[in-house]
Amino acid sequence: MHDVHREITRWLEPLGATVRVDAVGNLRALYRASETPASRLLIGSHLDTVPNAGAFDGILGVMLAIACLEALEGKRLPYAIEVVGFSEEEGVRFGIPFIGSRALVGSVDDNLLNAEDAYGVSVRKAIQDFGLDPNEIGQAAFDPETRAYLEFHIEQGPVLEKLGLPLAAVERIAGQSRWEVTFLGRSNHAGTTPMNLRLDAIAAAAEWITLVEHVANTTPGLVATVGSVETKPGATNVIAREARVSLDVRHPDDRDRNRAVESLVEQAKQVAERRGLEVRPRERLSQAAVAMHSFLTSRIEEALRQTGCASHRMVSGAGHDAMILAGKIPSAMIFLRTPGGISHDPAESVAVEDVAKAIECGAHLLGQLASVPTFHSRMCRA
Ligand code: HGY
Ligand code: MN
Ligand code: MN
Repeated sequence: MHDVHREITRWLEPLGATVRVDAVGNLRALYRASETPASRLLIGSHLDTVPNAGAFDGILGVMLAIACLEALEGKRLPYAIEVVGFSEEEGVRFGIPFIGSRALVGSVDDNLLNAEDAYGVSVRKAIQDFGLDPNEIGQAAFDPETRAYLEFHIEQGPVLEKLGLPLAAVERIAGQSRWEVTFLGRSNHAGTTPMNLRLDAIAAAAEWITLVEHVANTTPGLVATVGSVETKPGATNVIAREARVSLDVRHPDDRDRNRAVESLVEQAKQVAERRGLEVRPRERLSQAAVAMHSFLTSRIEEALRQTGCASHRMVSGAGHDAMILAGKIPSAMIFLRTPGGISHDPAESVAVEDVAKAIECGAHLLGQLASVPTFHSRMCRA
């Protein structure tokens, strides 16, 4: 991340932006307005990603923010622009996502700072190891003059490709729940233990995982994923005493999502009880579905039309930092088509001409907001 910060700073400073790294490792670059005091537009996305990822999830949004500054060619607008590259959005290392954007909205609490990674390193220690001071997290809050947040992001799904559209405005981001469900049985010898005397944690987890898939297949609009199963002791000839199962559940409607999660947790308990095992369900995240700001989204649609694209709105099944910022300031997103609908994988890609259209759309949007005399009050009111 230090290397990424150095490289991106090298690109931003010649554009006239002043760059800093805040107390949770977010890269923050301010491109001043033509006058002060001035409202501020935040544009960015996340710099972290998932294991064995593609090259565009998150970082493309930071690159497009930089490209929007570049397209200004030194021109200053009546409002300032702050480019942000969030340090941690995916939640891979600590199991809790959105650490970077939570710092901007002031929701990094001790519970989050004490969360530990697989090696027992806490968020607080990781911040110190990075050379930052977790006691300064309050200073990462967004500037009070910040009026809106804009995020460019790849769609990460098949919709825009199927519609033959390069770009779209996001109208809503689906809510998501993340759980860790640990089945606890008893290790024993694989060769000498009769089947009816086993407390097999992996067999219990496997039965429950098929139930997870069944609930998702039979609930319209719901997706549920078991992305990892960590087992102990993990030997071929030993019956597993522990299976720790991750669960990711998403739905555009929070009631449907919460109902599905309740049912799946209850079914985990039933599977465990029937098999004589213990089960420990642990909630890691419950992030409500979020609507994007209507005024900003309508401006994005206008900018799409100005770019010669059809204006299309869609729901995001993926979570984004915009859902954290939207809790405090008007937020909106622009999606780019994902060829093959593949993401969170090295096959993830974008079309260069779609990226060019996104830069043009961004330039139209910045121009529109500059001509909205009440950018400040308009944001607060709508
Ligand atoms: O998991 C997600 O929704 C996103 O990639 N952070
Ligand atoms: Mn991602
Ligand atoms: Mn992302």
